[in-house]
Amino acid sequence: MVAATLSACGGESGNGAADDGKITMGFSQVGAESGWRTANTDSVRKAAEEAGIELKFSDAQQKQENQIKAIRSFVQQKVDVIAFSPVVESGWDTVLKEAKDAGIPVILTDRAIDSPDTSLYKTFLGSDFVEEGKKAGQWLVEAYQGKSEQVNIVELQGNTGSAPANDRRDGFAEVIKADPKFKVIASQTGEFTRAKGKEVMDAFLKAHTDIDVLYAHNDDMGLGAIEAIEAAGKKPGVDITIITVDAVRDGMQALADGKINFIVECSPLLGPQLMDLAKKVVAGETVPARVVTEETTFTQEQAKAALPQRQY
Ligand code: AHR
Repeated sequence: MVAATLSACGGESGNGAADDGKITMGFSQVGAESGWRTANTDSVRKAAEEAGIELKFSDAQQKQENQIKAIRSFVQQKVDVIAFSPVVESGWDTVLKEAKDAGIPVILTDRAIDSPDTSLYKTFLGSDFVEEGKKAGQWLVEAYQGKSEQVNIVELQGNTGSAPANDRRDGFAEVIKADPKFKVIASQTGEFTRAKGKEVMDAFLKAHTDIDVLYAHNDDMGLGAIEAIEAAGKKPGVDITIITVDAVRDGMQALADGKINFIVECSPLLGPQLMDLAKKVVAGETVPARVVTEETTFTQEQAKAALPQRQY
């Protein structure tokens, strides 16, 4: 009974770490849907190597069932720590309970889950997505200050049910609701990909002749939308104001070129902090329940200045 309780409370060193001193991390990545995700995967792989942590990497191809399978397999392999970026917010309690019962600590990275049981994971490292949505909304409110006509907004959301899609939508909505001239006339998922962003923007343009603003939950969807806007004979960044999130190199280039008007940064470079946290939780040390990534925003002029040093 005592042993079981200890194990449920952590028991982090009960696995491989104690044997050879080398930490093994099972990492379940969402997929490879965007430039952000590629940069995040690179950051995690590089940081693991630098920290001397053995990484068992699994790509879920945007499917929750693949992530659940990967976590179960990490439990069976008795890894020392599991880290994952949950594709959607809900539906994790059962599998995370299995990891907890096996004494394997879990770290949420990039995205959160919505379980009330916070004992299922040790910490959550990642951005404040609500804040990102608010920053997008605040820039828009300032950009249209003094104008009284209705502003028609279309929104390309991230994957349905994912934390960044929910939070960026809510943060943005909370800010723009203060002024009734802002109206979201269409909102649909573009699944965080360029191809889907283009397809959905194309449909928006066919259904609405009066779009003033596009708010895309990531750069890739914004870049796909730019192709659709140009194909429709309109000038992105001029005829339609475009706000995106991420600030990956291609997005920053489009911002510097005047095709995007504003980008809210979301940093994918989480690898080093993740490895640090992993070492601590495996050693049984207390870590903060939430580690928020530091981020900024970019105007077109700021993008021009930042591009030469941009790492991703
Ligand atoms: O969870 C982070 C989001 O996922 C990024 O903003 C987006 O590009 C990615 O696919």
